[in-house]
Amino acid sequence: MLKTKTLIFDLSQNSVVDLSEAVEILKNGGLVAFPTETVYGLGADALNVDAVRKVFEIKGRPSDNPLIVHVASLDEAMLFTPEIPENGKKLAEIFWPGPLTLVLKRKEIVPDIVSGGLDTIAIRVPDHPITLELLKKFKSGIVGPSANISGKPSPTVAEHVIQDLGGKIDLVIDTGPTAIGLESTVVDVTITPPKILRIGGLNQEKLREVIGEIKLAQDKELKKRSPGTRYRHYAPNAAVVLISKGNIIHYKQLIKKCREEKKVIGSITHSKLLRDIEPSPLHFVFNSSMEYIAKNLFKALRELDEQGVDVIIVESVEIKGIGEAIMDRLRKTTEPIP
Ligand code: TXA
Ligand code: MG
Repeated sequence: MLKTKTLIFDLSQNSVVDLSEAVEILKNGGLVAFPTETVYGLGADALNVDAVRKVFEIKGRPSDNPLIVHVASLDEAMLFTPEIPENGKKLAEIFWPGPLTLVLKRKEIVPDIVSGGLDTIAIRVPDHPITLELLKKFKSGIVGPSANISGKPSPTVAEHVIQDLGGKIDLVIDTGPTAIGLESTVVDVTITPPKILRIGGLNQEKLREVIGEIKLAQDKELKKRSPGTRYRHYAPNAAVVLISKGNIIHYKQLIKKCREEKKVIGSITHSKLLRDIEPSPLHFVFNSSMEYIAKNLFKALRELDEQGVDVIIVESVEIKGIGEAIMDRLRKTTEPIP
């Protein structure tokens, strides 16, 4: 077993940041977990097949689920793709660095293992000062799936990374909780109109403002175009039950039923209406800001899971802004394992 080292940086201090060890580890085929504005990623040299293989093994990730390559800039993206279509350029110019992943044609230099055998490659420039610095120093692409065991909620703090991958990776760069808390939005720009394969930190409206028409890929097509969606995601061990916003009657019914069945309940609510109903001590009361909910959702799901609850009751949010991504992830936690 490896000893996983943690490198802590305080983003509020303008202290000197020495990333030479992290760069060295990556150059030698090691694994470094890194923060982004969305969630923590599990980093390896995108051009090193053995290193990338380790990423799949350690996560327990199916080999047909491709990885995102992180780069420092639009220019650097050209190392991995022969061309960026007009729509892709417009989006990249506005939203990079940021929570947007573009699916593009891939160059031959990209190892098959990275793109899971597809003829495309997913690329993004993360909006995080330390990780951008790391990418600049590394001077190439770093693969970065979320740094969790496959099927668990993505890590939003370094402690989650250690929980899942401690002893299996070389280093974790810890800069505290991630700003957004949900993964990037994945857009396939190889087709016209472009298609959203995964809704995330950027919502549909923002994308439309820049390129006009854009579609949300439907289920059947998604399974073909975005292999990741074939697998159960974001899922804690407990059963997750969604209730609509402010639905006191449904909430009380569920609590009663769970108690009758002697099930341990955890819950995550945000509206004032449900605030004072205590199903159990394991009640996360969020404030109603969507940004706050997005930022804290995965952490709450993990903590409830650790407490060994049988059922997690979660209050829905409105499907607007980041609420689109929150509801997407919540629905995925309730889907049965295929
Ligand atoms: O915010 C994020 O995107 C985080 C941070 C660390 O950057 N990364 C992340 O990676 O969420 P991962 O591997 O957990 O999710 C990548 C998603 C998967 O759904 C995968 O199927 C899809 O992107 N994907 C990757 N390459 C693709 C490709 N060539 N075509 C279609 N979908 C692709
Ligand atoms: Mg993931």
